[in-house]
Amino acid sequence: MRRTFNEMEGLNAIIIINSHDQMLVAIRNGSPLVIGFGKGENFLASDASALLPHTKTVHFMEDNEMAVVAKDRVTISHVKTGKPIGVSKQQLIWKASEAEKGRYPHFMLKEIYEQPDVVTGIASRIGEVELLASKIRLAHGTYFVGCGTASYAALAGTYLFSKIANRHVNFAIGSEFGYHLNFLNKKSLVIAISQSGETMDILESVKKAKERGATICALVNVVGSSLYRLADVQLPIGAGPEKGVASTKAFIGMLAHMTLLAYACSGNVKEGKRVLSLAVKSMKAVLSDQSVDHIIELSKKLKAKEHICVIGRGLSYPTALETALKIKEISYIHAEGLAAGELKHGPLALVEKGTICIAFLPNDETYGANLAGAMEMKARGGFIIGISHKPHGVFDFFIPVLDAREATIIPNIVAGQLLAYYLSTLKGLDPDKPRNLAKSVTVK
Ligand code: AGP
Repeated sequence: MRRTFNEMEGLNAIIIINSHDQMLVAIRNGSPLVIGFGKGENFLASDASALLPHTKTVHFMEDNEMAVVAKDRVTISHVKTGKPIGVSKQQLIWKASEAEKGRYPHFMLKEIYEQPDVVTGIASRIGEVELLASKIRLAHGTYFVGCGTASYAALAGTYLFSKIANRHVNFAIGSEFGYHLNFLNKKSLVIAISQSGETMDILESVKKAKERGATICALVNVVGSSLYRLADVQLPIGAGPEKGVASTKAFIGMLAHMTLLAYACSGNVKEGKRVLSLAVKSMKAVLSDQSVDHIIELSKKLKAKEHICVIGRGLSYPTALETALKIKEISYIHAEGLAAGELKHGPLALVEKGTICIAFLPNDETYGANLAGAMEMKARGGFIIGISHKPHGVFDFFIPVLDAREATIIPNIVAGQLLAYYLSTLKGLDPDKPRNLAKSVTVK
């Protein structure tokens, strides 16, 4: 195994079954592997949450570790040198029941409904947030980096820090950051945002940032993951195991942390807790039976559509991007998130009679201009779905979302998640396992 593995190139995780001696031999280089320790049995998995029904005692394998796993013992060594490596057992903090669907038809729906509790939990753990805020205040340049949905949390962070803390922070897409980070130095702070902590694009960018001396913080949901172990500072999202491929509660947890961090940097973390409590109240209203029925009614109108445009300004721009991604990845409808102010610079040419446009119009400084964007689309035949704190004549369909100040992005996102979920299920699709996608993107 060692000879063969050392001749291989690329990133991989390999497990060989030795049925004769009743053991497994596992080696990882780049792709995640975790060992689970049971009673008279031991396990291997690529994701710790898969082990929860069997054990909570785990060892997260590092690159170039080779594990020989028998039912009564586990030995680990370095695949290149053969040198023994100690087992470092950790206890998973999650409960097995958290990794089950329970009474829900899909993990995604369960995880959507868990979001108010996730945000409430985050608002009660401000010590870690204050610690990271102190590092942000001292850093010469803070960079929020993430992929996919996590990148929209990173982008939202730039608006939240500007609005709340008058502080400039930078945003970068995880898969691109590695190509333009040469300016980083030992005074830089990189906050890598990830649900799984195993996204290859983020890990590679973070390793390059570390080479340049930057301090790395992981805002990550899976404790013990590769990113968690790579970082100098860890801020667990604390959303519990997220099994649906489409990220929901982990993303809301990222946004809640961003909001609290911005308030902590402004020296008023208590106000941040108050704003998050408004977001929880507003989320619960969006999740009420009446609101969900209303969103299901909309999804019935849209399920046969091929294209959907989602627009927003300010914090509603990452909201639009994330909502479009949710719709794309689980209903396979082509949805495009756009900065509302950019419509007239080209995308408006796409609008014709019946074009579906979802417009986020929270009660903030973007309301008037956003409304103008919705009117521009309406004038050209668009069907306008207004997600806002109050109705307006330009809306052909109105989804009410209670104002939660800077945290209104959180209930707005929940409305988008529900719409995407019901579009998917009404089309007979499985929102938990969308085609072509994986929960942890451990490849480039
Ligand atoms: C989110 O719904 C997608 N599944 C995807 O964009 C995801 O956010 C991205 O792959 C990053 O994953 P991570 O948060 O585990 O790093």
